[in-house]
Amino acid sequence: MQSPFSLTGKRALITGGSKGLGKAMARAFALHGADIAICSRNAAELESALEEILAGTHRRGVWEVADLSKREAVEPLLREVETALGGIDILVNNAGSNAPQEIDQIDDETWDRLLELNLSSCMALSRGVVPGMKERGWGRIIHISSVMGLASTAGRSLYSATKAALIGMTRAMALDLGPHGNITVNSIAPGPFLTDLPMSFFSEEARAAIATRTALGRWGNPEELAGPALLLASDAGSYITGSTLVVDGGATIRTMR
Ligand SMILES: NC(=O)c1ccc[n+]([C@@H]2O[C@H](COP(=O)([O-])OP(=O)(O)OC[C@H]3O[C@@H](n4cnc5c(N)ncnc54)[C@H](OP(=O)(O)O)[C@@H]3O)[C@@H](O)[C@H]2O)c1
Repeated sequence: MQSPFSLTGKRALITGGSKGLGKAMARAFALHGADIAICSRNAAELESALEEILAGTHRRGVWEVADLSKREAVEPLLREVETALGGIDILVNNAGSNAPQEIDQIDDETWDRLLELNLSSCMALSRGVVPGMKERGWGRIIHISSVMGLASTAGRSLYSATKAALIGMTRAMALDLGPHGNITVNSIAPGPFLTDLPMSFFSEEARAAIATRTALGRWGNPEELAGPALLLASDAGSYITGSTLVVDGGATIRTMR
């Protein structure tokens, strides 16, 4: 009997799969039988990441350079992936970035670029893969949001706006697609995970303080997002849709006293 977590025969596109959380999810999906497509802006990183993701799995894979802060990158990306692997069964909208700025410092260029990358590209990629999912009667869409979409901190107006919007879009998309067969749409709200993204703007001191605010007293390792993503990507999670799964080591459970 096949495990409900098996992804055998499925094709998954994980945006931003060259490192961090995306790479960890892509590796888990390949280990569970999926063919893998990843994209980012860096060809050399993509090439070596895909090699590591597929190592020992006998799965197929493809990488594509795509700057998802530009809408025109979406259509060629989907075309190339579908030509190489076939229709996309699992889409993980993971590529994203942050540019901490207080509200009176935000410039229009940064606002528009991050809105496109963190939110609008997720809409455009979803729009592109949904017709095939409807035809095949099976699909999984996972948006990588953030605990910053549920709560916030100073300097995160832009980031929190995009991540909260993803959570809202998750609910409405789940209602759109629910009647079309076994198609689910969910989001994951990660807390602090040790990847290049937070490392680029948190000092060592700030990182230590963040660890103490989680219930588990530490940052997450990217591999610890793989299990939650696998649940939502596989038949194991077939009755979960429109949900946001918080994976934060207990970072958001504390009251004020
Ligand atoms: N790490 C955390 O603590 C944390 C917490 C909550 C939510 N998240 C979310 O998790 C997701 C993954 O973050 P991460 O921590 O794994 O970050 P990461 O290690 O910096 O990885 C981000 C990935 O996205 C790609 N990317 C960035 N800008 C892109 C662009 N314009 N076009 C295409 N790809 C782009 C990066 O590749 P290139 O830069 O080479 O293009 C990389 O592959 C993001 O959506 C982030 O907001 C992370």
